[in-house]
Amino acid sequence: MKSIIITGAGSGLGKELALLYSQMGYHILLTGRTLEKLKAVEDQINTQKGQASSFKVDITSPSEINEFMKVVSSEFKLYGLINNAGTGYFGPFESLERQKMKEMMDVNVFGTLNMSQVFLPAIKEGFVMNIISTAGLRGKKNEAGYCASKFAVRGLTESLQKEYEQSDIQIKAVYMGGMDTPFWDYSDHIKDKSRLQSPGKIAQIIVNNFEKDTIIIEANT
Ligand SMILES: NC(=O)c1ccc[n+]([C@@H]2O[C@H](COP(=O)([O-])OP(=O)(O)OC[C@H]3O[C@@H](n4cnc5c(N)ncnc54)[C@H](OP(=O)(O)O)[C@@H]3O)[C@@H](O)[C@H]2O)c1
Repeated sequence: MKSIIITGAGSGLGKELALLYSQMGYHILLTGRTLEKLKAVEDQINTQKGQASSFKVDITSPSEINEFMKVVSSEFKLYGLINNAGTGYFGPFESLERQKMKEMMDVNVFGTLNMSQVFLPAIKEGFVMNIISTAGLRGKKNEAGYCASKFAVRGLTESLQKEYEQSDIQIKAVYMGGMDTPFWDYSDHIKDKSRLQSPGKIAQIIVNNFEKDTIIIEANT
């Protein structure tokens, strides 16, 4: 059975993608830092007669990624990697704390780089999908640090698309507008997150457009 790794699979978009891809017959390798959230998604997938396994992996930790790689290479046939985990801090640029900027770079940029470098060699035929944001397409007020991190992931993704053009591995970039997920739970940047698109709807659009290398889903207007 082909397996797909999803980072940040315990909530939001990662969870919805896990539910959908498991229904399509893939074994989902759910990863994140909070095992309880992953186990809850795993239970939901099992209830729907799908297959999933949960692994506690912090994508900013090269040693945790390497340990996970050993398990994947010995037990699973890797077909896909969805780099979905991400974090965001917002507000005027001059007040953006250096530590928060560093965290966004560590998770969004280096997390995606780390996972891609370690797992690409394990995918003989399949795909890597990077969940970016419309913040990776254009700059936005009070989003300087977040946009900088997502522009970096865009640069990585477009470069890999060229590097893997002649291979059996498809490299995909997904840019979406705001979604109603726990991403906004500790931020007042979005006043009413219930007005945003549901992550379930976005996940379905991604699955429906899987053949495309670049998927752009603009925000509700
Ligand atoms: N929500 C939006 O409006 C929006 C719009 C465009 C793009 N996006 C992007 O969509 C992606 C998914 O976000 P979401 O909206 O679904 O938010 P979310 O529900 O907060 O999901 C993010 C997930 O990433 C995991 N995570 C964070 N840091 C991690 C780390 N160091 N290692 C491993 N896992 C980590 C979190 O779980 P743990 O804390 O348990 O590890 C969480 O489950 C992100 O890349 C985000 O930038 C979001």
